[in-house]
Amino acid sequence: MKATATAPANIAFIKYWGKADPTLRIPLNSSISMNLSGAQTMTTVEFLDALDTDEVRILDGVFSEKETDRVVHGLDRIRERVGRDTYARVVTKNTFPKGAGSAASASGFAALALAGFAAAGTTLSEKELTTFARLGSGSACRSIPDGYVMWEKGTSSETSSAYSLYPHDYWDLRDVLVIVDSRMKKVSTSEGMETIQTSPLLVKRLAAIPERLARCKRALEEKNLTLLGEVSEEDCLDMHAVMQSQNPPLLYWNDATREIMEAVRRWRLEGLRVYFTIDAGPNVHLICEGNDEKAVAQKLRDIPAVESVIINKPAGGARLTDQHLF
Ligand code: DP6
Repeated sequence: MKATATAPANIAFIKYWGKADPTLRIPLNSSISMNLSGAQTMTTVEFLDALDTDEVRILDGVFSEKETDRVVHGLDRIRERVGRDTYARVVTKNTFPKGAGSAASASGFAALALAGFAAAGTTLSEKELTTFARLGSGSACRSIPDGYVMWEKGTSSETSSAYSLYPHDYWDLRDVLVIVDSRMKKVSTSEGMETIQTSPLLVKRLAAIPERLARCKRALEEKNLTLLGEVSEEDCLDMHAVMQSQNPPLLYWNDATREIMEAVRRWRLEGLRVYFTIDAGPNVHLICEGNDEKAVAQKLRDIPAVESVIINKPAGGARLTDQHLF
């Protein structure tokens, strides 16, 4: 059987940085995110008796050997779970606009998990699917459920899973992704997390997380942008403080990143309700409400360092489609 799934990337308000179990990708802390409408992966999987190896292909790009291996390991986990040893053909495509510069690992492993099990003829619960997506890339588990998503760190592979806090149409937020450098990041998140224990700030970060998670949940419950924006900026800056104090230090920002962070603070003083958050790279995500989307985009036109802007609405989770890629 052939199956195709689409899955969104996501942006975390409370970030995942560091693993308690690197093999099982059990995180050091729980996290909360929103799925993104403008950055999706589509993947078709077919298990075929005629194949004598897995065939993995990405349209409009090339997979490195490392990336191919990661997909093959994902297929191995599906084969093991369903008790089958047939090889598979996998074709995948990202709808990330050119220059998004972000690796599509969250959307990629979410789409692979959903399409892979469907192609193997096995229906998993959403919870179990999130645990399989997590084994490919931690943040991928947050790309399976709808809209606003909580990833509970858990204590085992079965309990480290994600669920929807609110559907995508619950609150009309925007994630305005500001591209200031479209090249791939130099240090991947997986590599970057390996040295997290070298940061003297990690202990403080982990102690602060439970209260931040509670504040973030309250912000979502109340649809309170000020509260959500403040806690998101706080957690983003804290994660980057940990990154920057690791040995060797991880410095993901550039001049344009800093310029935009400062501009956001200035715009807020002028009355525009917008906040920033940044993942493991120089590009900046601006969080605002739908009715301020145009004002934020207009402001960004005055900053020459901005290469491009991608406007994301809150999106649904991973889903099956019958539009196959082969
Ligand atoms: C900074 O999920 O990409 O974006 O589990 O090693 O694949 P691996 O890491 P990944 O890490 C994402 C880190 C982050 C913060 C976040 O999205 O929570």
